Amino acid sequence: MDKFLGYRCSLCGTEYGPTEITYTCPKDGGNLDVVLDIDHLRGKYQAADIVSRADSSLWRYLPLLPVAEFPPGATPLHTAGWTPVYSLGGLGEALGIKQLWLKDESRNPTASFKDRASALVVARAMETHAEVVITASTGNAGAALAGMAAAVGQKAVVLAPRSAPPAKIAQILIFGATVALVDGTYDDAFDLTIKAANEFGWYCRNTGYNPFTAEGKKTAALEIWEWWQHAHEEWHNKIGNGVEHAPLTVFVSVGDGNIISGMHKGFKDLRDLGWLPQIPRLIGVQAEGSAAIANAFRAGGEEIVPVAAKTIADSISVDLPRDGVRAVRAARETGGTYVLVSDDEILRAIAALGTVGVFAEPAGATAYAGLVRALQEGIVRSEDPVLVLNTGSGLKDVKAAMLAAGEAPVIKPTLAALKTLLRRQP
Ligand SMILES: Cc1ncc(COP(=O)(O)O)c(C=O)c1O
Ligand SMILES: [Zn+2]
Repeated sequence: MDKFLGYRCSLCGTEYGPTEITYTCPKDGGNLDVVLDIDHLRGKYQAADIVSRADSSLWRYLPLLPVAEFPPGATPLHTAGWTPVYSLGGLGEALGIKQLWLKDESRNPTASFKDRASALVVARAMETHAEVVITASTGNAGAALAGMAAAVGQKAVVLAPRSAPPAKIAQILIFGATVALVDGTYDDAFDLTIKAANEFGWYCRNTGYNPFTAEGKKTAALEIWEWWQHAHEEWHNKIGNGVEHAPLTVFVSVGDGNIISGMHKGFKDLRDLGWLPQIPRLIGVQAEGSAAIANAFRAGGEEIVPVAAKTIADSISVDLPRDGVRAVRAARETGGTYVLVSDDEILRAIAALGTVGVFAEPAGATAYAGLVRALQEGIVRSEDPVLVLNTGSGLKDVKAAMLAAGEAPVIKPTLAALKTLLRRQP
């Protein structure tokens, strides 16, 4: 595979060959960026060659990913990504911004953004003939790994915190992975996963720890780039041609920081290829109760100090984010920032998205809650084009949805009872 040159440590810059190393930098534990042969790719492809590929999945970007061809098919692994972008005109108007879009990652095969990372890691596992893939997960990464692995007959093991929402665990069980609920936090599960991978010789998918997760997640940036080429034109028709505006602003919820850093990598690859003149502004949104990355950003440095995380948004509840440094840089280097939201704001965001037909889990609605907060704080102006990501389906955490929506009333099966109810709630 001539496009995949190896890895570069995000902390010390040391470069490693593709087979020299598997996870993080042995010198300092830094996350590794996958290094692609950009010169070779630039000589081989034009942007039009990529956007004209027939795949309606993340594999349309295979030429820009560090895996070789793999057997074709129509499984969940083959169909991850290529999620829709909705225009949320009504919500945008209510918020006082001219145009608002939402990219709906709940439309992935296992209903979260994590399918992107797991698809790449499973493709890599197939290439390297890994017998077993293990991951720690708050639930979604595990469901995604289990689903992608089941699709191609790969063995998978998932360690999740005992507190994970039952729907996510049900998915992992139904997909036939081996799953254990760890009596501890996500961070405890993370550490145990690495020990188990070393002990049994398994391939570890852990978010951020495995460099391929960011490569999978970068495909969302590639899709946004492709979408924005069309939407940008429409945007100018709306605000007037020649009118200056801020770059596209993208809101992303942040736990380990791997989604935002993976997306940043995707935009940087496109810039290095000469296909993207201006990288969108990336705004990371964390829960107030799980704010290690936002704290580092606000302190002006890169030191990630662990917190004792507690938030209703279980998917972004992380004590020590495993991709914190690159996540800080993603916002800093793109003119973005970090925004913090409370659990109440997250619940209100679930309800607001529901009014336009989008069902988000708490971590999925966090990006929208961040937009509301950013408007209040003057971080976004009315003429800025804005895209928020919904990273996971509301069906993943029905308990949280009921907290946002309240209980449904029960009535006797009579018209009179229905009329009484309708008088109370028109
Ligand atoms: C629904 C959802 N949103 C956001 C995130 C945050 O991603 P990251 O941990 O890479 O920052 C996750 C991670 O599990 C997730 O499942
Ligand atoms: Zn290093």
